[in-house]
Amino acid sequence: MNKVKEKLLEMKGVVVRYGGITANDRASLYLDEGEIVVLMGPNGAGKSTALKALFGLAPIESGEVRWHEKTVRPNPLTMTKMGIAFVSQGRRVFTSLTVKENLEMGAINLNDKQEIAVKIEEVYKIFPILKTKAKQNAWQLSGGQQQMVAIGRALMSDPKVLLLDEPSLGLSPKMVKEMFEKIKEINARHQTAIMVVEHNIKSVLKIAHRVYVLDKGAVVYASHGHNFNEQILEKVFLGEME
Ligand SMILES: Nc1ncnc2c1ncn2[C@@H]1O[C@H](COP(=O)(O)OP(=O)(O)OP(=O)(O)O)[C@@H](O)[C@H]1O
Ligand SMILES: [Mg+2]
Repeated sequence: MNKVKEKLLEMKGVVVRYGGITANDRASLYLDEGEIVVLMGPNGAGKSTALKALFGLAPIESGEVRWHEKTVRPNPLTMTKMGIAFVSQGRRVFTSLTVKENLEMGAINLNDKQEIAVKIEEVYKIFPILKTKAKQNAWQLSGGQQQMVAIGRALMSDPKVLLLDEPSLGLSPKMVKEMFEKIKEINARHQTAIMVVEHNIKSVLKIAHRVYVLDKGAVVYASHGHNFNEQILEKVFLGEME
């Protein structure tokens, strides 16, 4: 029997404009509990804007964002409290803080030191390399390791939803593969729903449950479950979207 799933996080007909640029053009997409959903599309398609709109970091002109099927006015603080974590494009870490301190910064919802320590250990289980570098300043880490810190920091708040913007950007092929394995592991561990923007189409499709393609701010393709339209994805891959 098909159980009707509640949509966890959704945007409906969202329009975001920056001056004369329409960055999201009546974009509608959603994320179910426990899913890994991938946003693809050419540069400037509005993928980052969509994640930002969901997290309350983009000026939504019209349309709505819904959480558990209820309309919300997204802003980063309320979205964080509701259980959404956002890792922006370009691995933002506090470079002058240690790895451990960076992770602690993600525990804004926790006061108990013991609980924070437990959470940090959980992050180390996913990214063991970070444990060996716990006391190093983040600027001493490689790009991939910094990305792990950024994701690890997001995980500290035990999010229901993780919004990831190009986690593999600038990583070596080996690290890219590892990063996708980690994303899958994060999803499997706590059923964390993940919406990920990614250019590395071939690798990300291996872990994706569903796919959206954006172009010029609009959703131009939404896969039916795991049945991906290879032709459309090939076009995206080859940069042939019109
Ligand atoms: N803060 C901003 N101010 C002005 N224009 C913006 C801003 N953010 C995004 N844009 C514009 O909105 C459009 C969509 O940008 P967005 O960053 O969402 O694209 P993207 O799909 O994430 O691209 P990429 O793959 O290059 O990261 C682009 O034309 C971009 O120039
Ligand atoms: Mg982007």
